[in-house]
Amino acid sequence: MSMGDPAAFIRANTMLHEPPLVPEVKLHLASEIVPIWQMTEEELEKSGLPPPFWAFAWAGGQALARYILDHPETVAGKRVLDFGAGSGMIGIAAMKANAASVLSVDIDPFAAASIHLNAEVNGVSLNVATDDIVGSANGGWDVILIGDMCYERPLAERIETWVHSLVDGGATAYIGDPGRTYLPKSGLEKIVSYAVKTTRELEDTDVRNTSVWRVI
Ligand SMILES: C[S@@+](CC[C@H](N)C(=O)[O-])C[C@H]1O[C@@H](n2cnc3c(N)ncnc32)[C@H](O)[C@@H]1O
Repeated sequence: MSMGDPAAFIRANTMLHEPPLVPEVKLHLASEIVPIWQMTEEELEKSGLPPPFWAFAWAGGQALARYILDHPETVAGKRVLDFGAGSGMIGIAAMKANAASVLSVDIDPFAAASIHLNAEVNGVSLNVATDDIVGSANGGWDVILIGDMCYERPLAERIETWVHSLVDGGATAYIGDPGRTYLPKSGLEKIVSYAVKTTRELEDTDVRNTSVWRVI
């Protein structure tokens, strides 16, 4: 399988957009999911790949990024993990809100490339990793930010157990979620909700009511 050049692929197939709820952040994004998904499969000469999540600013992530920009004390001076970072939007918001450092983690190498590109566009510095760290010990993070990760049961269940162990160890964790099916039913405290503009192609609706939750 050829990995091609993810950064060149992203530059060629996306445009710089400002997510509706987070206009402070510019991201390399696609406007439709099917064409870029097909092109990713062609680039990698592989079918059945997961969607190119990194090419969209998901509603859960937009809500969490908005919350952080409006409440910089959440992350200011703190070591932050942006887990399932996708485009890197949440970590970029955290650096703009004066986080001490951000580690953006996503298992998709295209996401890693998009995070590097988007960090550069926004003039912030992010550390980026592609390991599957679910279940690992706390890597020195004070705050864990999780944007829109509850769309698949096994993943959501693994994250729930792991995040509770990190919170029990003293970290603070927030989840941004637009009502995905596998959002945990307990152990969360709702902080704020936003109406996030989205597209019918992506979400079957024009607006999603999206909440930021603190893990308790
Ligand atoms: C719906 S996207 C959300 C992206 C971003 N947080 C946002 O809100 O725009 C979910 C992301 O989680 C990543 N992901 C899935 N499983 C993962 C894992 N085990 N570790 C890290 N990232 C993972 C996917 O590659 C994808 O980029």
